[in-house]
Amino acid sequence: MKKIAAIVLAAGEGTRMKSEKAKVLHQVSGVPMICHVVDTLLELKLDKIYVVIGNHGEEVTKSISDKNLDFIWQKEQLGTGHAVSQVKDKLKNFDGTVLVLCGDVPLIRSTTLKKLLDFHMTSDSSSTILTFYPENSSGYGRILRNNNKDVIGIIEEIDANKEQLKIKEANSGTYCFNWKKLSQALELLNKENVKRELYLTDVIKILSSKGEKISAIHVKNWKEVMGVNTREKLANANYEMNERILKKWMNSGVTIMDPNSTYIHNQVNIENDTIIYPSTFLEGKSKIGKNCEIGPFTRLVNSIVGDDSKVTYSVVYDSKIKKGTNVGPFSHIRPGTEISESAKIGSFVEVKKSFIGKGSKVPHLSYIGDAEIGDRVNIGAGTVTVNYDGYKKHKTIIGDDVNIGSDSMLVAPITIGKGAVTGAGSVLTKDVLPDSLALERGEQVIKEGWAKRKREIEKKKQLKKKCQK
Ligand code: UD1
Ligand code: CA
Repeated sequence: MKKIAAIVLAAGEGTRMKSEKAKVLHQVSGVPMICHVVDTLLELKLDKIYVVIGNHGEEVTKSISDKNLDFIWQKEQLGTGHAVSQVKDKLKNFDGTVLVLCGDVPLIRSTTLKKLLDFHMTSDSSSTILTFYPENSSGYGRILRNNNKDVIGIIEEIDANKEQLKIKEANSGTYCFNWKKLSQALELLNKENVKRELYLTDVIKILSSKGEKISAIHVKNWKEVMGVNTREKLANANYEMNERILKKWMNSGVTIMDPNSTYIHNQVNIENDTIIYPSTFLEGKSKIGKNCEIGPFTRLVNSIVGDDSKVTYSVVYDSKIKKGTNVGPFSHIRPGTEISESAKIGSFVEVKKSFIGKGSKVPHLSYIGDAEIGDRVNIGAGTVTVNYDGYKKHKTIIGDDVNIGSDSMLVAPITIGKGAVTGAGSVLTKDVLPDSLALERGEQVIKEGWAKRKREIEKKKQLKKKCQK
């Protein structure tokens, strides 16, 4: 079996993105484009993967540093041909096939790459090009064929004449090469083109003129090899990838009520019989269990939701929600929160960096920050853990079976002992002993008949006014 190495081109500037960051770091379904390409390649278990980096090279390296790749610097971006040449030293004694791909073609599938490789290995070609018929060819190189339909070159759009621009078959930027033949052809590249670059695409013409066999296979669905050069294409790629991800989850038993308004990132995991309601965003490394109801209008980022839970009209960041829990409508769960089994976080409640025990409830209009709340606790409506004194954050600790009255201010640091009850409207500044009642408010004053007397005085005044008129 001949050896196979891959070269991913990712050094370009991405001028058309008009961005401060590298093009290949722009995200598609929550993951940098380059990660999609590399992950797809890794499925093929090739001998080596080289990634050519240049613009923002450090950041690009960082984004895929955990994947056992070889990074090759292209100091100056003199074109795709020059980019591939940078790997020459590494492949000096290599006698096999190289698969070349672009870091800005994120939707490519491993099955397509496998087909391309299989075709190339059995066809005895010096190169095999993956071509396609895009809906709109603008920006792509066109495939030149002779009267026998043999591929004889690729012409870049910017260099093409009127006739060549009419060619519908385009270059996907994905190719297989016999490495020895490619490296010889790379030596012969020149910059005689509008961009004054060393085009990789020109090696096709060079090899063809030497009488080498060039093959091409087509990708049926043009969207799979869409190149992302602009923000508009980035949106298209996100849309496509999202559709793919939604299909995958529907096929594995997840109900998605409205695929048009549901966005699920690539690394999310969802178990079966969960229902995702419209306008829901599941992002980062979120994990959702079985039988959950998520949405409508919900955003979960890097969060875990246990089986049988509901999250409605809410946003949840970097938090854990255990089994059988209800969150929302209109809750904001901020990073570092853990909500235990069968708990309830209700409407207009914000929870930050807090632990909520089993079966505990924060049903309405509360702020819980830096708190540890035990099991079976009830927090009355309008309760605030007053965690910030203007300088530092302080903790609130509430034991099991505590009942906090409505409209309470728990001024931290404070501990409310197990089984204690606190009266509504209290501003509590001192620790509360277990099983006690804590109250902090003025005693109620009742003046009997006061209101009636006031009304009578008013009536008399009115009468007097009328008589004077
Ligand atoms: C390229 C192809 C074009 C093809 C299209 C498919 C060439 C000359 N043109 O055009 O035929 O239809 O892809 O999407 O190859 N890069 C480097 N170093 C460089 C220049 C580019 O690493 O010096 C990288 C870029 O980061 C990018 C890839 O190569 O990932 C392709 O470069 P790009 O400028 O996007 O080429 P296109 O104009 O899209
Ligand atoms: Ca491109």
